[in-house]
Amino acid sequence: MRRYRSVFRLCLLLSLSLWLSPVVLAQDAPQREPLAAQASNLLSYIAVDYGDSVKNGEIQDNSLYQQQRRYLARALELVRQLPDKPGRAALEKSVLELDVAIAEKRDGEQIRRRANAAADRLAALYQLQRSPAEMLPSAAFARPLYRERCAGCHGADGQGGGDTPDLRDPQRMASFSLYDLYNTLDPLADEVHGARIDGDLSSRQRWALAVTVANFAVAGDAPPPADLAQRYPALIGLPAMATTRPVELPADAAEALLWSRGHPERVRALEHPLARADGLLQLAETAYRAGDSASAYHKLMLAFRQGYAPVREQLSERDAPLAAQLSEYWQALRSAILGDAPNAEVIAAFQRLRGALSQARAGLEPPAATQHYYLWAAFLFAAAVALGLLLWFGLRRRKLSRL
Ligand code: HEC
Repeated sequence: MRRYRSVFRLCLLLSLSLWLSPVVLAQDAPQREPLAAQASNLLSYIAVDYGDSVKNGEIQDNSLYQQQRRYLARALELVRQLPDKPGRAALEKSVLELDVAIAEKRDGEQIRRRANAAADRLAALYQLQRSPAEMLPSAAFARPLYRERCAGCHGADGQGGGDTPDLRDPQRMASFSLYDLYNTLDPLADEVHGARIDGDLSSRQRWALAVTVANFAVAGDAPPPADLAQRYPALIGLPAMATTRPVELPADAAEALLWSRGHPERVRALEHPLARADGLLQLAETAYRAGDSASAYHKLMLAFRQGYAPVREQLSERDAPLAAQLSEYWQALRSAILGDAPNAEVIAAFQRLRGALSQARAGLEPPAATQHYYLWAAFLFAAAVALGLLLWFGLRRRKLSRL
C-alpha cells in the first residue's frame, strides 16, 4: 500500500511539474527569445544581402548598403538589451567589429562569415531553439498554405518579381539555413517581412513553409549520391540540417544539403535510427539547458521510440551487455529529468547515454573487415579453381601418356 501511495505521489509530482514547466518558461521566454531571434534574423539578412551592395570596396547599391547599416545598428541595439551573462560582452564586441567592417566596406565574403558567426554565437548563448521539435514534413505538405498566404506576392513557384526575391535562386538560398528561412516567417523575429504576412502562423506551420520554400530551388533536381550522406552525416539529420548554411560547406556537400532540406521525407529513409536518436537527444539536452524539462522529456521519449526502439533487438543480439547498459542509461536519464535531479547530474546522464549510443552505432555498422572477407573468399575461390584445373590437366596428361 505504501508503495502505491509513493508511486501515486510521484505521478502527481511529475504531472504537476510537466504542467508547470511551460508556465514558468512562458514567463521569461517572451522577453528573451524574440529579441535574440530578431537580432539573429537581421544578422542573417546582412550575411545574404551585403555582398550585392558592395564590390571591391565600392558601394554598388547605396540604398541596399544603407539598409545593411540600419539592420546592423538595430541588431546591436537588440544585443545590448539582452540579459547580461558571461559571453555577452564578446558577442557585443563581435557585432561592433562587424559594424566597423561594414563601415570600411570590406569584402562580401568576409562580412557574410562574420555576420553568420555572430548569429551562431547569439543562438548558442541565448539557447535559441533552431531546430523543429517534430520531424520535418514533405514540401508538398505546406503547399496549400503557401498558395493561400504567400503565392500572391511570391508567385506559385516562388519565382517572385518586382521587389519580391526569387525563392528559386539556389545561390541566394544557399546563404540561408532552414532556420533563417523559418525566422523570416516569424513576425516577432522579423519586423519587416513578418508584417507582410496576414495572421499568425504556428511554429510547425513555419517549419513546414520553410521546407516548401527550400524545395523551390531544387524541385526538379536529382538526389545527390548516397555516399555523400555517409561522408557528411549532418546532411541527413536534425538539428544540423536546420542550422547549417549550405554556402559554408564544400560545393558537393552544399548541393546535397540544398537538396535534402527540400526533400526531408526522402532523406529520412537514409538516416540511421541511432543517428536520429542522437539528434533528438541533442535537442532534448538543449531544451533542458534552457530550463524546459517538459520539452526535454518529450524529445527524450521521441529519441527512444523513433531512434532506439527500432534497433534494440538487433543490438541485444550483437552485444547484450551494451544493450543492458543502454536500457539502464535511458531509464536513469528519464528518472533524473522527471525527478528534478540537480542539473549537473542530468547533463552527465545525457552525456553517458549519448556516449553509449555512439558505441552501439559503431557496433551495428557492418564490420570493416567484411571487405577483406570478400577478398579472401575471392582469392580462395580462384585458388580452388586453379588447383582443379591443374589436377584436371595432370590427369589428362597422365591418361595421354598412358595411351
Ligand atoms: C505582401 C507580400 C508578401 C507576402 C504575403 C509574403 N512575402 Fe515573403 N517576401 C516579400 C518581400 C517583398 C520580401 C523581400 C524582403 C522584405 O522586404 O521583407 C520577402 C522575403 C521573403 C523571404 C526571404 C527571401 C530572401 O531571399 O530574402 C522568404 C523566405 C519569404 N519571403 C517567404 C514567404 C512565405 C513562406 C510567405 C507566406 C507565409 C511570404 N513570404 C509571404 C513579400 C511577401
